[in-house]
Amino acid sequence: MTEKDFLPGAYQKMPENGKVTWKAPSNIALVKYWGKRPVQIPANPSISFTLDACATTTSVTFEKKEKNDGFSFDLIFEGKQKADFKPKIQTFLERVEMYLPFLKAYHFTIETSNSFPHSSGIASSASGMAALSLCLMDIEKELNSSMDEALFHAKASYLARLGSGSACRSIKGDLVQWGAHKNIPNSSDLYGMEYPFKVNPVFKSYCDTILLVHKGQKKVSSTVGHQLMHGHPYAENRFEQAFSNLDKLKPILANGDLEEFIKLVESEALTLHAMMMTSMPYFMLMKPDTLEIINKIWEYREATKTPVCFTLDAGANVHLLYPSSDKEKVQIFIKDELAEHCENGQYIHDQVGSGAIKIND
Ligand code: DP6
Repeated sequence: MTEKDFLPGAYQKMPENGKVTWKAPSNIALVKYWGKRPVQIPANPSISFTLDACATTTSVTFEKKEKNDGFSFDLIFEGKQKADFKPKIQTFLERVEMYLPFLKAYHFTIETSNSFPHSSGIASSASGMAALSLCLMDIEKELNSSMDEALFHAKASYLARLGSGSACRSIKGDLVQWGAHKNIPNSSDLYGMEYPFKVNPVFKSYCDTILLVHKGQKKVSSTVGHQLMHGHPYAENRFEQAFSNLDKLKPILANGDLEEFIKLVESEALTLHAMMMTSMPYFMLMKPDTLEIINKIWEYREATKTPVCFTLDAGANVHLLYPSSDKEKVQIFIKDELAEHCENGQYIHDQVGSGAIKIND
């Protein structure tokens, strides 16, 4: 599919009002997206596990306006008007308007809430932009009922990407790949898709415990971090490495080779942070407790031979990944050894999920 496929034809009807609700999950990348060019085109392909418990639920109520002038919307976050989120939504609506030409015909009330604690340091932009895009697509489907499922999901992902890159991996599927790769059929820079190759059952129920090391605002946003990859001395090598890591993952995911999985995933996480530390200006998002946790994971893995590993996103929190068959003992290890490194001892047990769902009001 190309950009043109996402431009709709004439709408069959324009209802006066209505309401739609979607719940979209967060995701955690195994091969990381870091670096992009306009508009929201990734410098390299990435792949992520879709999460289950960490999610955003968004309702969009729409009502026909008298005049088609400008965007009109209210934003309610966890029950309260949230003016500081509005500019991000405004930019998003401007970017997607040509693909959703009904946007100026309605006033929207967007009500959104997260399942995870507010300012936990968990990025809500992926789940938030995915949930909003799905709501807008659902409205479009009411205007054009002939749209098929494949187009619905690809376009929802396409729109979500324009809100936040990683959001395009939070629409459908347990393992989602985004970014054109010559060895992955139908892969695209424009939207995410379900990983098309064989995946060993061990990964279908993989666990992810998010250790909340630092819940405050990050010093450097992802948006700024991505920009610092322009002119970065190691950028080209890093992008090539990501392409090659996707090739390497194919047999690992098919065979359930946990030893190789661990090497690749941890290397990706540390490379992401190495790119931050070697940017100009350089910065660091890991905290001392991030490193304490990583060292304890390595010691525990060595001593018990349990295949636990970590990954990181653009922050200090640690995602601990492990097979569900090791859940009981790993969760004791977390409680006894790792919780003390988390802010207020907080962590969230999550696992691989299957994507966004529509909520019927
Ligand atoms: C480190 O998707 O948050 O989590 O496109 O600017 O919104 P924007 O960036 P964002 O970047 C995510 C970066 C990452 C890696 C990943 O999820 O692949």
